[in-house]
Amino acid sequence: MCGEAEVQGSKNAALPMLAASLLATEGQTVLHRVPPVKDVLVAMEVLRRLGAKVDYDIRAETAVIDACDIEEFRLPEELTSRFRASLLFIGPLLGRFRRAWISEVGGCTIGSRPTDYHYRGFARLGARVEGVAGGGIDVVADELNGASMYCDLPSHTGVENLVMASCLARGESVIENAASDPEIVDFVALLRKMGARVEGAGTRRVQIAGVEGLVGAEHTVMYDRLDAGLLMMAGAITGGDIALKGVVRDHLHVFEAKLQQMGVEVAAAGECVRVKGPQTLSPINVVTTFYPGFPTDLQPGIMALACIAGGDSYIRETVFEDRLGHVKNLRAFGARVSPEKDRLVIVHGPAQLRGAQVKAMDIRAGAACVLAGLAAEGRTGIHNLYQLDRGHAHIERRLRGLGAELERL
Ligand code: EPU
Repeated sequence: MCGEAEVQGSKNAALPMLAASLLATEGQTVLHRVPPVKDVLVAMEVLRRLGAKVDYDIRAETAVIDACDIEEFRLPEELTSRFRASLLFIGPLLGRFRRAWISEVGGCTIGSRPTDYHYRGFARLGARVEGVAGGGIDVVADELNGASMYCDLPSHTGVENLVMASCLARGESVIENAASDPEIVDFVALLRKMGARVEGAGTRRVQIAGVEGLVGAEHTVMYDRLDAGLLMMAGAITGGDIALKGVVRDHLHVFEAKLQQMGVEVAAAGECVRVKGPQTLSPINVVTTFYPGFPTDLQPGIMALACIAGGDSYIRETVFEDRLGHVKNLRAFGARVSPEKDRLVIVHGPAQLRGAQVKAMDIRAGAACVLAGLAAEGRTGIHNLYQLDRGHAHIERRLRGLGAELERL
């Protein structure tokens, strides 16, 4: 593979920002570099169903949202059932209306994915969290008062949700053991432009001082480090030499170090980052963990690389209890992966991968299938593309630009 491609805007930063637009009772929220991925498009539909005006220019990737006049606090079930990030609408609705109702949330099937940190935090702020006969959860508060909250594990959307609920609470709030992902820092940058008083984003302790109201603001979404990771791995697994625009290396330290251990060259090249894959990849050990550790979202992809590496790789998933579903897919390509034990698998490389017919089970498992397909001899069919489209925009077009042969049927 060779050529140049551009990384998309971050899905996981855009989603909480779209939710945060609900907090503005004056002015419009203008977001640039909003990626046209399915989860983001559905999130915009949720905003519309709540009564917001949403104008998304898909070519310019700019979204203009006006939520000043909304009155609805019930989230539309048929949309929230499609992605887990719909949880993120509860925080701002609770902040603004002191009430939010949600039925069911969907999303990637990568474990039980509990929601206790979110609801426990809302309760600490003074909300009652009630299961409703006939289904759904009603979160209601007479008033919201600043509180001390914590996450047992540093939860990404948990922090974002609790920050949004706290912005309009009375007094000071603090979230301990917060996640420190770059998307949270970017999201808080937007909130601060909207008038929120939030300190400590990017650290394990986030503090919020409640304000009377928030106004719309303009912001450019950060580049997507997970999309960058997929493109970098596409260059690496094909022994390619590619240039990528929009790779923020500061967000990918551990991942980049792992690629380098595998023999991949990563270097700055003007505006771009150049990624050059070796003839034969070296095996590695990977343990996923919270930021700034190795991202769980890039674990399926690096496992695809390990399949063709010259030796045994050890890959352990510690963030989600069931994020090894792609092992089955990789075996279909001819990879030799040990049975899972305590969320650890041993990948016996090198395997000669052969084209296969596989089903993308979630966004990142779909990415692993794309990578294996690029390295495999013969044709590969990836089904259930909806999953991949939830997180990566026009992936076939961008990979074709790098010389890969693939088409959407
Ligand atoms: N957890 C709980 N209780 C909660 C919340 C989380 O026990 O109330 C646990 C989870 O089970 C997990 C850990 O805490 O073991 C961390 O989960 P987290 O809450 O951070 O995950 P998330 O916020 O639901 C976000 C991303 C995921 C990404 C994870 C981990 C968004 C919209 N989603 O999910 O992205 O895998 O953080 O970094 O930001 C993806 O983009 O493909 C994706 C799944």
